[in-house]
Amino acid sequence: MVGLIVPAAGMGVRLGVGMPKALYTVGGQTLLSHAVRAAVESGVVSAIVVAAPPGLATRVLEFVQPEIPADVLVRVVDGGVSRQSSVRAALTAMSSDIDVVLVHDAARCLAPPRLFAEVAAAVQAGRAAVVPGLEVVDTLKQVDRRGSVVDTPDRTVLRAVQTPQGFRRGLLQRAHDAATGDEATDDAGLVERLGQPVYVVPGDESAFKVTRPLDLLLAEALLAARAADEGHR
Ligand code: CTP
Ligand code: MG
Repeated sequence: MVGLIVPAAGMGVRLGVGMPKALYTVGGQTLLSHAVRAAVESGVVSAIVVAAPPGLATRVLEFVQPEIPADVLVRVVDGGVSRQSSVRAALTAMSSDIDVVLVHDAARCLAPPRLFAEVAAAVQAGRAAVVPGLEVVDTLKQVDRRGSVVDTPDRTVLRAVQTPQGFRRGLLQRAHDAATGDEATDDAGLVERLGQPVYVVPGDESAFKVTRPLDLLLAEALLAARAADEGHR
């Protein structure tokens, strides 16, 4: 059975809306509600654990509960000071019958249901760690501390990775247990440190992370386009 972890405990400093961004509203609903709804719509998720901002677990449950069908178990835990510690706390609360775990940022609130299903299917087909990735459009430069360019990596072998990322539960647990620092920006990175393979499947442009103010405009526009599309059907 597939479980979903939603790290939603971040403060959203770069977004700068004066509140944890998972609880910020776009298109009439919180980023968190959009993210959970898409995961539920995929039909592959049997249990959900949300990592909430400190002190906001009750409010978080109020926001997500309406999105959850009766047969899906939902829990909310207090997140940690880093994304990594938030995921670890959520993993501890995941029910024992779950053997495949998807980890999905609340901030990637417009990831389509199809992406959850594809990542879960790849794990169930035998890949123990799966991440969605897109080709990189910008030329990337490696710089030193003074800002001088050191290198221009070959763009064609790079991927910008997204969530949902999918794992065999045991592997994700081992990766978090073995983690030393607290700075991993994704879970696949911890699996790589174990020396275990991570497989990339095609990502989706709409799974972008709402990080900076411009991303909110994009999210609003995309939601308006989806609503208009629904209206035409
Ligand atoms: N996250 C979390 N716990 C933390 C930090 C982040 O659960 N201590 C979650 C965020 O809520 C978000 C996801 O991890 O859904 C991706 O993190 P990011 O985009 O960096 O969100 P924030 O940390 O909230 O943003 P910022 O870094 O700008 O403060
Ligand atoms: Mg952050």
